[in-house]
Amino acid sequence: MKQESSEKLLRRIHSYIEKLPYMHEPEGLYEPVEYVLGLGGKRIRPVLMLLAYNLYREDVDRIFPQAAGIETYHNFTLLHDDLMDKADMRRNKPTVHRKWDENTAILSGDAMLILAYQFMMQDCPAGCMKEVMGIFGRTALEVCEGQQWDMEFESRTDVSVDEYIEMIRLKTSVLLAGSLKIGAVLGGASEKDAQLLYDFGIKMGLAFQLQDDYLDVYGDPAVFGKKIGGDILCNKKTFMLITALAHAGAGDRIELEKWIDAADFEPDQKIRAVTDIYNKVGIAEMCNQRISAYYEEGLRLLDEVEVDSALKVNLRDFVCGMMKRKL
Ligand code: IPE
Ligand code: IPE
Ligand code: MG
Ligand code: MG
Ligand code: MG
Repeated sequence: MKQESSEKLLRRIHSYIEKLPYMHEPEGLYEPVEYVLGLGGKRIRPVLMLLAYNLYREDVDRIFPQAAGIETYHNFTLLHDDLMDKADMRRNKPTVHRKWDENTAILSGDAMLILAYQFMMQDCPAGCMKEVMGIFGRTALEVCEGQQWDMEFESRTDVSVDEYIEMIRLKTSVLLAGSLKIGAVLGGASEKDAQLLYDFGIKMGLAFQLQDDYLDVYGDPAVFGKKIGGDILCNKKTFMLITALAHAGAGDRIELEKWIDAADFEPDQKIRAVTDIYNKVGIAEMCNQRISAYYEEGLRLLDEVEVDSALKVNLRDFVCGMMKRKL
């Protein structure tokens, strides 16, 4: 079986996405779509879809529309997420609601969701359409469920680690898992393999979101492309904050709670104070341990996929690269 490297798949799907013919009037609706899709990003989800497909079939071009569909859906979630999270920066550029306005982020986002469905259906190989659209629809709805939990947790202080993990499974993992499963289904994988690849994606997604939360505190803004400390300012119930609340000494816990309740504060001061407590508690290490554990669990699931292990090297190397990311 001829396989393509993840670098080559990335280059090819990137140029396919750049040439997508969605531009129409009014420009005000589509310009932000072009802006956000043109900023690139890591293209993790389409590459995962293509790598999963390439475990079973060579003709990866055949599913470029579906790969573009999943990336368009992901970018739709970012437009609305940045509005919900009051984020100013994405991929080192102003977010859509900052560059244009909130209504633009809502409506251009809505258009992207519809475009995502159109791409997903476009030339969907015969016999697969129903299953693919079923996985996509379920996944897309679960992401909304995760996003709702994420927002509701902002105003709660009793969120458990288990609740957090379920929230990130929904808002982040299912999209990585769904990308892999759609790729596998389109490639003609057995039901068992398609499910193993889905479960592998869930574990990788948990590690990926934990890493994202970690980088939101400890990342280099120039590399990460988003402002540091956004999660702290929104009182996001990340693994780090939940664990800090559980492990901090009495004084630090009171200090953390004071910052969570504060209505009026200097943003940089809050970020610094909360980060200082994270450092004291040793949150970074605890977080990294969990990331590694999910990553290892994921790789064990990949081992069980019933294709020759030489064929799994590309996928394994790609997720290994994902876990070392700084952006
Ligand atoms: C950002 O996803 C949203 C999360 C699930 C953390 P990515 O980190 O994949 O964003 P891009 O597409 O590479 O910018
Ligand atoms: C990512 O959550 C989940 C979705 C975008 C659906 P975050 O809010 O952490 O993502 P970033 O950090 O803004 O990319
Ligand atoms: Mg966000
Ligand atoms: Mg968010
Ligand atoms: Mg984040």
